[in-house]
Amino acid sequence: MPQLETPSISRRDLMAASAASVAASAAPLSTEAAVPDPQAPVLAKVSFEVNGQAQTLELDTRTTLLDALREHLKLTGTKKGCDHGQCGACTVIVDGRRINACLTLAVMHEGDRVTTIEGLGSPDRLHPMQAAFVKHDGYQCGYCTPGQICSAVAVLDEIKAGIPSHASLDLTAAPEVSSDELRERMSGNICRCGAYSNIVEAITEVAGRTA
Ligand code: FES
Ligand code: FES
Repeated sequence: MPQLETPSISRRDLMAASAASVAASAAPLSTEAAVPDPQAPVLAKVSFEVNGQAQTLELDTRTTLLDALREHLKLTGTKKGCDHGQCGACTVIVDGRRINACLTLAVMHEGDRVTTIEGLGSPDRLHPMQAAFVKHDGYQCGYCTPGQICSAVAVLDEIKAGIPSHASLDLTAAPEVSSDELRERMSGNICRCGAYSNIVEAITEVAGRTA
């Protein structure tokens, strides 16, 4: 009976071939490198005015106005509390209206006029609302205070402009600023220290002056 010829492959050759095939399967396909990373930042320029100064920033389009102010312009007076639109610590005034800076993207504010607590007054020239907060002890830890003051300034402008609150109080029938009216309008600004009574006193005093 004829003998079958066995190929002369050594054990060493088999191991080398296996290692080569494993390496080939582990190597990334060249097409994979071309797939864009969905997490990669998309940059865009935005130009706006902050506290009277023109600013142009190149930002990841996901950057909030709050982070643009704090991280890029180093205006850390505006505070980050919840970062979810629930506490009001990040309140700034944009084109005369108060907004939560954590809820809006910086690139949406091209050409806007932004005022932060630093733009309202300075230590030696306080805004009347800042002075009233000091006078009436409208703060304890102070973390909510920049947002409270920006909000309060805008609230008085809203009242003067006749913009109704959610409670729909009739400002023409009762033009004086009641404590209930102020509490309703300031309800988006939370104070964990509970300085609410003093805050209302401060705003009431400024409202009386500016009415
Ligand atoms: Fe923006 Fe709380 S940090 S609402
Ligand atoms: Fe502390 Fe308002 S003063 S949170």
